[in-house]
Amino acid sequence: MATYNLKINGKKHQVDVDESTPLLWVLRDHLGMVGTKFGCGVAQCGACTVHIDGNATRSCVTPVSVASEYTITTIEGISENGDHPVQKAWIEHDVPQCGYCQAGQIMSATALLKNNPSPTDEDIDNAMSGNICRCGTYTRIKKAIKTASN
Ligand code: FES
Repeated sequence: MATYNLKINGKKHQVDVDESTPLLWVLRDHLGMVGTKFGCGVAQCGACTVHIDGNATRSCVTPVSVASEYTITTIEGISENGDHPVQKAWIEHDVPQCGYCQAGQIMSATALLKNNPSPTDEDIDNAMSGNICRCGTYTRIKKAIKTASN
């Protein structure tokens, strides 16, 4: 057990956890940020995606000891009122079906557009290929990303 200081969504948080605790469980169980979802736990589905220093990262396989060295953004932190351009595009295109994977999808999409505001189809496919959606909302996700891009 150790104490970690985390910078999440612009605020500081302190947690006492084992160093190997995945960031996902610190967010959900210790800090009550349940927008980040657990899917597979082994970096295969993307449901747990957050930004670490602006890059899309699987929080299920990121130990808190590593995450504490960087700036973390979760789905709760990308906008004040759900008005990030990507969130607006998601609504415009009615992207979610069951919705479970969508926070992770949005976190990957926002990281993509931050680094590459005008992605090609190939860029989108590459950036989003690690985010699985069992409802098959991929076509709408791609349309929404294009709407939110420059
Ligand atoms: Fe982390 Fe599936 S829960 S990638």
